[in-house]
Amino acid sequence: IKRRTVMDRTAVVKVGAAASASVCALFGGVVLAQYIVAKKKRAGKKTRIIEMMPQFEKTTVHMKDHGKVEDKICGLIKGGASKLQIITDFDMTLSKFSVNGKRCPTCHNIIDNCKLVTEECRGKLLALKNKYYPIEIDPQLTMEEKYPFMVEWYFNSHRLLVEQRLERDKLPEVVRESDVALRDGFEQFFDRLHQHNVPVFIFSAGLGDVLEEIMRQAGVYHPNVKVVSNFMEFDENGILKGFKGELIHVYNKHDGALRNTEYFKQLKEYSNIILLGDSLGDLSMADGVTNAENILKIGFLNDKVEERLDKYLDSYDIVLVKDETLEVPNAILQKIL
Ligand code: TMP
Ligand code: MG
Repeated sequence: IKRRTVMDRTAVVKVGAAASASVCALFGGVVLAQYIVAKKKRAGKKTRIIEMMPQFEKTTVHMKDHGKVEDKICGLIKGGASKLQIITDFDMTLSKFSVNGKRCPTCHNIIDNCKLVTEECRGKLLALKNKYYPIEIDPQLTMEEKYPFMVEWYFNSHRLLVEQRLERDKLPEVVRESDVALRDGFEQFFDRLHQHNVPVFIFSAGLGDVLEEIMRQAGVYHPNVKVVSNFMEFDENGILKGFKGELIHVYNKHDGALRNTEYFKQLKEYSNIILLGDSLGDLSMADGVTNAENILKIGFLNDKVEERLDKYLDSYDIVLVKDETLEVPNAILQKIL
């Protein structure tokens, strides 16, 4: 009897052990299954390109349709360097809007503020800016409504500059002494595009001669860059006497784009485009392109942010709010090139 009791006890212990082992195995199995599911989920998430770029986690990055951005970036990556071209604005897009709260100059402002311009003229140019810049960025007015005011601004401003009889040879010094700054990461941006032979079309309603000088001094005026802008016309003594060709202002870039269809025809194999701008007028910069496959539009929203964010989100794929860097464009380029 005694022996049987011992055997029974052994049996009970054995059954107990087996039971707890299977509970353990079950528990372990559940944990393992959960781990696998979680890992799969994480792995699934990581297939989204924009989630693989930490630059997109910055609070400056706004998007209305993440899926659309994802699709366009995937299209750009698939096409690679041989299909890519850049179409970009200059002032307040490639150049900074502000540094430590202080506004940076546009190409025009570099001249406005320089020592070659008389105090009287500077006052008049400033008065024009104070009248017309608020119209340029007014969230309530349509581009059509702003258009005639922009023509007025450029007409008056350019007339004043011609009256000052500016000397061409002084431009390099004027640019050197100005507070102009290109957005952080500009070297990487231009050097990478140059390295991969990606055509860059800078389409600016600023002053072409000043813009080119900024690019030269920054060491990024590479041969893959073409500038279309308002170029000065000088007399035989190198004194400003007018401007060449049709005026480009903030809201007639559509017409300027169409005048450059020859350029875009030559690049017809380059059907993937990254467009960079800071104004709603910049959205028409690619209107001369005939065979676009993917156009990724990146907009810098620098001023009147709350009032304009919705409109910018409707028209630009990615909106960079008060972002003084080219980190997001550079991150995308790094994936493509
Ligand atoms: P963008 O097309 O390269 O941005 O250049 C146009 C900018 O230049 C636009 O924001 C208006 C600005 N501008 C001035 O700052 N001063 C002027 O006198 C004029 C006519 C334009
Ligand atoms: Mg601009």
